[in-house]
Amino acid sequence: MAINYQERIPNNVDLGNDRRLQRALEHWQPRFLDWWRELGPEGFQTKDVYLRTATSVDAKGWASFGAVKMPDYRWGIFLADQEKDRTIGCGDDYGKPVWQQVPGEYRSILRRLIVTQGDTEPASVEQQRLLGLTCPSLFDLRNLFQVNVEEGRHLWAMVYLLHAYFGRDGREEAEDLLMRHSGSEDNPRILGTFNEPISDWLSFFMFTYFTDRDGKYQLKCLAESSFDPLARTCRFMLTEEAHHMYVGETGISRIVKRTLEKMVELKTDDPAILRKSGVVDLPLLQRYVNFWFSSCMDLFGAEISSNAAISFANGVKGRPDEKRFEDHIERDTSLEIGMPDEAGGMRMEEVAVRSAMNEQVRNAYIKDCQIGLIRWNRLIKKAGFEFELELPVSRFRRNIGVWAAQYMTPDGKSLTAEEFTRQHDRFLPSDEDRLYVQSLMQQVTEPGKMAGWIAPPDRGINSKPVDYEYVVLQ
Ligand SMILES: [Fe+2]
Ligand SMILES: [Fe+2]
Repeated sequence: MAINYQERIPNNVDLGNDRRLQRALEHWQPRFLDWWRELGPEGFQTKDVYLRTATSVDAKGWASFGAVKMPDYRWGIFLADQEKDRTIGCGDDYGKPVWQQVPGEYRSILRRLIVTQGDTEPASVEQQRLLGLTCPSLFDLRNLFQVNVEEGRHLWAMVYLLHAYFGRDGREEAEDLLMRHSGSEDNPRILGTFNEPISDWLSFFMFTYFTDRDGKYQLKCLAESSFDPLARTCRFMLTEEAHHMYVGETGISRIVKRTLEKMVELKTDDPAILRKSGVVDLPLLQRYVNFWFSSCMDLFGAEISSNAAISFANGVKGRPDEKRFEDHIERDTSLEIGMPDEAGGMRMEEVAVRSAMNEQVRNAYIKDCQIGLIRWNRLIKKAGFEFELELPVSRFRRNIGVWAAQYMTPDGKSLTAEEFTRQHDRFLPSDEDRLYVQSLMQQVTEPGKMAGWIAPPDRGINSKPVDYEYVVLQ
């Protein structure tokens, strides 16, 4: 169904024919806008931003671009088209028709999944709200705001499901999504990573590269859900998510590029010298990779999880690209995963495939994360330097699962707690690193100009030139 922009809430779910739901969402809408004004991007709410808006949900040409003031962005409810005769793709009920309503027995598990996903969306907007004040260019400022308004729309997507399918408790959960705040002492966001402020652009690019990619994998699992409205919502969200990861990948590429230019020019890889000329040295970049990658590892949950097994068995959640697996039921199958041994190392252990769902999703994510590193390392090699960026092992710096509180180097060599603390600044950003990155954060707003620590992008947005006025500040 086409998107209807005539209504107060743009949608392609025929909202006009469901007065009760429409009223409920129209009641929530002003609260959302209050939240956006209060905790959305600081300082640019009255400016024209060159944003894309969804016009249809099919893969080709779903977006229109134009100058929009962020509070006027047309947030709405967009579901991918319904697949005719779709059947359950995994678990015990494989092959039966998918659910158009929430089955009573899976109500609380589905609600929890939707609330947890929904909570991350406004959380990231809150985490990033001050970044505009230190943007490295207008191009980047616009990309930040595009990500922000789309995370706001992802919140709408989850709130729609709560309102439409979960009755009164759904409405209450939708209210709570605006009440919890990232980093709040007494009412924080649900997941740890989403309470850490993102106060510099290096962290923002790491977040969009690593954490939004985690989002992609969570959405890919939910896109396999037997609860069809959830699957359809997530399928459309994935098309928006792709842009967020593009922002992260190209952002880090441009930082690497700029650093390499300086390394070639000064004929050195000495971080101290490079810092004097205002670029991000590669070992520092590696420590940021270690930090963000490891904090994302926890988002996938424990290696062995009965909850994950139950969700798969019930068809509530599948694996990313479930169709690519041979067995969609996995009743008595097993696989080997790495588990801690007594000597502080790792041994392989056979576990039920259903119990190791989190680990399988995590592994698919890790593989996807490699793509950017290969690209960045190619740039480094081409410039004639030896350095290689690497992902730490998945068990490094974990707080959840069998590796929680086990100390090791990023490449997996066991350490005592004291040894880890002693070497902390070799593995993870030190206070000095963070202060240095902070010192680079100076706002640049002249069209086409870039901060000194980042190279210009290869191309602009939607065929516009790089020096286009993507945000009009006057
Ligand atoms: Fe999102
Ligand atoms: Fe995202």
